[in-house]
Amino acid sequence: MTSASAPGKAILCGEHAVVYGRPALAVPIEDVRARATVEPHEADELHLHAPAMEFDGPLQAAAQDQPLRRAIELTLTEIEVETPSLRIEVQSNLPIAAGLGSGAAVSVALIRALSEHFEVPLPPQRQSELAFEVEKLHHGTPSGIDNTVIAYGQPVAFIRGAPPDLLKLGAPFHLLLADSGQSAPTALAVAGVRERRQQDYETYQALFDQVADISVKARAALEQGDTATLGPLLNRNQDCLQQIGVSTPELEALVAAAREAGARGAKLTGAGMGGFMLALVDETAVQEVEQALLRAGATRVLHTRVTP
Ligand code: PMV
Repeated sequence: MTSASAPGKAILCGEHAVVYGRPALAVPIEDVRARATVEPHEADELHLHAPAMEFDGPLQAAAQDQPLRRAIELTLTEIEVETPSLRIEVQSNLPIAAGLGSGAAVSVALIRALSEHFEVPLPPQRQSELAFEVEKLHHGTPSGIDNTVIAYGQPVAFIRGAPPDLLKLGAPFHLLLADSGQSAPTALAVAGVRERRQQDYETYQALFDQVADISVKARAALEQGDTATLGPLLNRNQDCLQQIGVSTPELEALVAAAREAGARGAKLTGAGMGGFMLALVDETAVQEVEQALLRAGATRVLHTRVTP
């Protein structure tokens, strides 16, 4: 039996702008993970058990464009293994359609478990490339940031189409991740931005340029371990996201509550229109901000320490 896992992720800044070539920063979230287990199966079929995705049956019964099926088939082709007698189980405690990279984490966990099971381990770059193919099923034009940060498992400065630039954090920092409780398919949010950008190109270009400036400065702050500078940059990024049209009253309420309770900065994370927000907090403020987020309507709050 072979088991492998992959972390979730949070985009610190640059979501949406990254689709249009601007830089973005993302970090792995080690406390929430997808896990895949591969073991021999008596029956002559590949059996997939994925309770979180409500699938249990032969892989062939899944739609051809089902992301788990695609991840499994791509990996078997990559490592040149014929469809074998296998039982694959996928478990994940990552919220789905919430901006924490659930889809990419499940893909990377599957790619790792299968390739390790057949003793053809793949390097992070190849894991990322295969997961990117699967990401295209979730929404047509992914930037590739999710699969990159999750496959490398390190903080990354990401520009679409460029090799990943792995970051050395100057110091660990604490994030609170709060669920707005609204589910938010990335494809819808990305399509909405594309439509609005077509109608008002200049405004959106200017907004994306502002986000790029924020990402560049935030990168320097991260590398210096300077959360006093990073916090206000996250707030500025949230202003841009609000103008880009992907925030919601629920997310705004959580962002305001976090700031009032002492967070250094707060913003939505991921595609928006719901899903999660993040707050940068000093360790001493974790409890107070967490309570404030719950009072402001968060359906759950995760605390994570991002380490160099
Ligand atoms: O919500 P998520 O985790 O799928 O993140 C999407 C990030 C976007 O920038 C909105 C889209 C992308 O492909 O980068």
